[in-house]
Amino acid sequence: MKLASANFSDRLEPNIEIKGFPDGDQYVNIPDIKKIKGKKVEVYHRLYPEQDKKIIQAVFLLKTLKENGCRVDLVAPYLPYSRQDKRWKKGEPLSAEYICSLLKWAGAEKLTTFDCHFLKKTGEHFYGGLKIKNVSLSNPLIEYAEKKYGKLEVITPDMGAGYMVQGKGKSMKKERGEYLEGKEAYREIKKLEMDFDVKGKNILIIDDMISSGSTMIKAVENLKSGGAEKIICCATHGFFLKDSLKKLSGICEEVYVSNTIPTEVSKINFMDYL
Ligand code: R5P
Repeated sequence: MKLASANFSDRLEPNIEIKGFPDGDQYVNIPDIKKIKGKKVEVYHRLYPEQDKKIIQAVFLLKTLKENGCRVDLVAPYLPYSRQDKRWKKGEPLSAEYICSLLKWAGAEKLTTFDCHFLKKTGEHFYGGLKIKNVSLSNPLIEYAEKKYGKLEVITPDMGAGYMVQGKGKSMKKERGEYLEGKEAYREIKKLEMDFDVKGKNILIIDDMISSGSTMIKAVENLKSGGAEKIICCATHGFFLKDSLKKLSGICEEVYVSNTIPTEVSKINFMDYL
């Protein structure tokens, strides 16, 4: 049995009710609960944007299903907080781990997600006690560009995304600095370097995500100063914060992502790879 929330309506017919109470508290209801009691259920619910709300909604759904004797798998194509898997300062939480533990506690037997930042490997893993099936969209992302532009050199902007090009490409080296002053917790990119030749080459840069766009923009600038010809940028998850899509589109041939987060440049349908 599949249960889908309205934020999956681009892929599945929604059959879960989700609303907000007037004060902002979250309301969920599973109208078919009597029919699915004790059954195996897949819940399709995107956890981004508005990740805090969406995570709470997922917890309420999972726990209600668990209390009704269901065995539940959660399908959430992007896992928020997945970048907080390490402590930069001693007093910081391991947010990625806590979110996984929370989903497990609520009743998720398995989470299926795509290019999960802290896993850096496909297949099944346990993290924070939660079983996670991590699927990579690197092959379809690369195939999309090669169909359009012919054979390309594939490069990741940092070693973390290296698994996305294993045996097929190279990685730049990225180093972040200290947190910047101000309200946002953001560590600037201190260095982004490459030790290979790109002169005259057509290049596809691939990453697990484009968030503020700083990584991709720096990577494109590097490749341009190295004399690369055509440069195409892609990622599994596209947040495109602020005006980063516009900026990036202005300095390379094409930018595209999958629809794990729906965007105007989503070219790969993750549902085809579940
Ligand atoms: C980080 O290690 C990730 O793989 C991405 O490179 C990073 O999260 C992208 O963030 P931004 O677009 O803000 O540079």
